[in-house]
Amino acid sequence: MENGNSNNNHTINGNYETAGKVITCKAAVAYGPGQPLVVEEILVDPPKAMEVRLRILFTSICHTDLSAWQGENEAQRVFPRILGHEASGLIESVGEGVTDLKPGDHVVPIFNGECGKCAYCKSDKTNLCERFRVNPFKSVMTNDGKTRFSTKEGGKPIYHFLNTSTFSEYTVLDSGCVVKIDSQAPLKKMTLLSCGVSTGLGAVWNTADVQAGATIAVFGLGAVGLAVVEGARARGATKIIGVDINPEKRTKGEAIGITDFINPNDVDKPVHLVIREMTGGGVHYSFECAGNLDVLREAFLSTHDGWGMTVVLGIHPSPRLLPLHPMELFDGRRIVGSVFGDFKGKTQLPAFAKQCMSGEVKLDEFITHELPFNKINEAFQLLIDGKSLRCLLHL
Ligand code: APR
Ligand code: ZN
Repeated sequence: MENGNSNNNHTINGNYETAGKVITCKAAVAYGPGQPLVVEEILVDPPKAMEVRLRILFTSICHTDLSAWQGENEAQRVFPRILGHEASGLIESVGEGVTDLKPGDHVVPIFNGECGKCAYCKSDKTNLCERFRVNPFKSVMTNDGKTRFSTKEGGKPIYHFLNTSTFSEYTVLDSGCVVKIDSQAPLKKMTLLSCGVSTGLGAVWNTADVQAGATIAVFGLGAVGLAVVEGARARGATKIIGVDINPEKRTKGEAIGITDFINPNDVDKPVHLVIREMTGGGVHYSFECAGNLDVLREAFLSTHDGWGMTVVLGIHPSPRLLPLHPMELFDGRRIVGSVFGDFKGKTQLPAFAKQCMSGEVKLDEFITHELPFNKINEAFQLLIDGKSLRCLLHL
């Protein structure tokens, strides 16, 4: 174990006397696109059937929260809303019918749930779930189409986000979107498993199945891209090329495991040509972690013909389509998307958490900042300015 269990001494209001009652607590509410979040008291209903209520202890901000807050996509403009999907905490109470979770359990929320019963959950070809599939437009609970959050004054509904809504001291989730992890696991670091690290690392291990000796290129060195780097390092990739327009990402990339760095603004030809020259025709795998279509095309062309594979992790604003001609696929380059690193959350995350605890996967580099929850707007700014990977907020 990396750092004892000093994070794990929390209790929830003593004896969970809040169970079954409406809780008044602090949350950061988004009232409109780009408007500073308002940290205020809100009301949180008890969980209904097959739902659980969490006491969030740590949460961090991912690029997807940023996009939703800025209202990048019109259909996502649902306000007031509680954003946030990367977190860790404890179960406060459970609704009727929940048998796999109990008050006090150490958990991480997952935006891509696992009901365990649908055709998708039963298939070993996908980690999508019919009921709790990731959906940034969904803003109410699956059970009854209603919200569990409301304003303290006037009781107006506040909407949910990504099946999770973690920018709140208490939140309600479907039990299919909550993973129980080892009570000895350091909860602070486990926050990263909720999205960024699982997404990046899983894309390497599960989607691409990168083997020792492979060469890879990672486009975009945010937390997601650097988790790809960490996954490739752990698997024994021999060449890990990081590509980013922010020159400051080189140092961080090297600390985690990139062997080479390319700033597209510093080279006089397209990046894919530079990469092909460096690797005798192209890398085995490339990963798009910037959410930019021009970058995606570079990533696609930087793999070797015949066997190259490009994994898409970045979220691309609609409605632009893939920037490649169908005939280009006849060159034997494949392209595939990866959601939540192809991890089936409830089934596979507990073992992944253990791999992180044993040091097989290193998480320390990813938490670059820590702030109290009421400074959440500062944490957003750090991500916007490209200064943070993950800023951990303490609730
Ligand atoms: N070329 C190379 N790198 C780029 C480019 C570009 N044209 N544009 C942006 N980047 C880099 C940024 O400098 C930054 O380092 O991509 C990185 C993105 O990192 P973050 O903003 O920290 O985002 P992260 O949380 O890692 O998510 C990455 O995955 O979940 C999705 O929506 C998310 O698309 C985003 C991606
Ligand atoms: Zn995320």
